[in-house]
Amino acid sequence: MNFRHIEVARMTPTIGAVISGVDLNAVKSPAVYEEIRNALWENKVIFFRKQPLTPQAHAALGRAFGEMEKHEFFPHVEGHPEIQTIANTGNKSPDTDRWHADCTFREKPNAVSILRAVEIPPSGGDTLWACMNTAYEALDGPMKKMLLELDAEHDISYAFRRMGYTGEARQLDAGNPPYIHPAVINHPVTGKLCLFVNSIWTKRFTNLVDRYGENLLRLLNEWIMKPDFQVRFRWEQDSVAIWDNMATQHYAVFDYAGQARRMHRVTCEPTKVRLDARPEASRPAPIEHFGERPTMMMMDARLPAPKPAVRGEAPRSQAQRGSGMLDDTRMQLLSEPERRAVIAVFDAISSLDLGDIARRSANV
Ligand code: SIN
Repeated sequence: MNFRHIEVARMTPTIGAVISGVDLNAVKSPAVYEEIRNALWENKVIFFRKQPLTPQAHAALGRAFGEMEKHEFFPHVEGHPEIQTIANTGNKSPDTDRWHADCTFREKPNAVSILRAVEIPPSGGDTLWACMNTAYEALDGPMKKMLLELDAEHDISYAFRRMGYTGEARQLDAGNPPYIHPAVINHPVTGKLCLFVNSIWTKRFTNLVDRYGENLLRLLNEWIMKPDFQVRFRWEQDSVAIWDNMATQHYAVFDYAGQARRMHRVTCEPTKVRLDARPEASRPAPIEHFGERPTMMMMDARLPAPKPAVRGEAPRSQAQRGSGMLDDTRMQLLSEPERRAVIAVFDAISSLDLGDIARRSANV
C-alpha cells in the first residue's frame, strides 16, 4: 500500500509497524487519519514515538476510528470520561499480563484501542501483540473447519471471580450479562478470519461438552502465544500504540514490580461481532448460565442431567434447572410451601461464590 502523508516501517512480516512523519497533536487533514486507518488494517498494531498527545488529540484520534466508549471498571482522566487510566505502582500485577482482546464480553466489543505511555519504568513494562488472523490460518485444516462451527461465551463477572474480585464481580453482574460470540470471526473491515477466544473473558464453548471444551480453550490460549504471531514493543514516554482489537490479542508484561507505569487508553467503535458463514452466531447467552460458577459447571459434568420439565409443571428455579442438585422424586413428596422453601434455599446456595468460600475456609 502507498502512503503520501505518513511513513510506515514494518516490524515483522506478520504484525506491527512504526509510523513516522506525523504530529498527532496537529493533524490537518482527514486524509492523514485515512492513511493511519489503512496502515492499521494492514499491520494490526501500529506505533508512534514522541507523541505527547493532549486529551483532545487522543480523543480526536479515537473518533477517527468511530464512536468513543466509556469503560466498565478502569478509572478515567478527570474531565475526560472517555480516556481511561491504566496505572500500576505496587507489587501486584495489574491483571493485563494475560493474553486478551479488550472487552469481548460485550455485545459489541471495541474495534480499536489507543494507548499512550504517560509514565514508564526505567526498564520493563513492554507490551506484546499477537495476530489472530495468522494464528487461525496457521492451524491445520480440520481444526480450522471445526472452529468455524464453535461458539464461546464471554463473561466479565466470571473473569473477575476467577481473578479473585468477588465484590466487584457482584457489582458487574446486573449490567453485564454474558454474551456468546463465534470462536472465529470475519474481521469487520478486511473480512479475514480471526480467532476470537481469549484467556481472560472467554468462559467456555457453548456447543462442546465442558470436559473437552475446557481443554480446547486451553489449547487455543496456548497456541496464540507462539512467537511467530507476535510483535513486542518497548515503550518510551509518549509512545502511542493503536491496535486492531478484532485481529489481535495483547499482553502487558509485568516485570517492573515496585516501579510506576501509567498509561492512558481510549477504546472506540463498538462493533457487532460477525461470522458470515453463521450470521446469528453472536447472541446473548441464555439466562440459565448467567452467574454460573466454574465449580458448578464442573459439578454439572459429573451429575446426571436434570429431568426435562413436564408439561403443566410449575417453572423450575435456577437451582433446579442449572445444577441438578434437587431430587425431583423427593421434591414431589413435599407440600407446596415446603417445596418453595427448599427451592429458595437452593437458589440462595447457587448464588454463592463457592470459590471464594473455599479460599476463605482454607485460611481459617
Ligand atoms: C491493555 O491491556 O489494554 C493495556 C496494555 C498495556 O498496559 O500495555
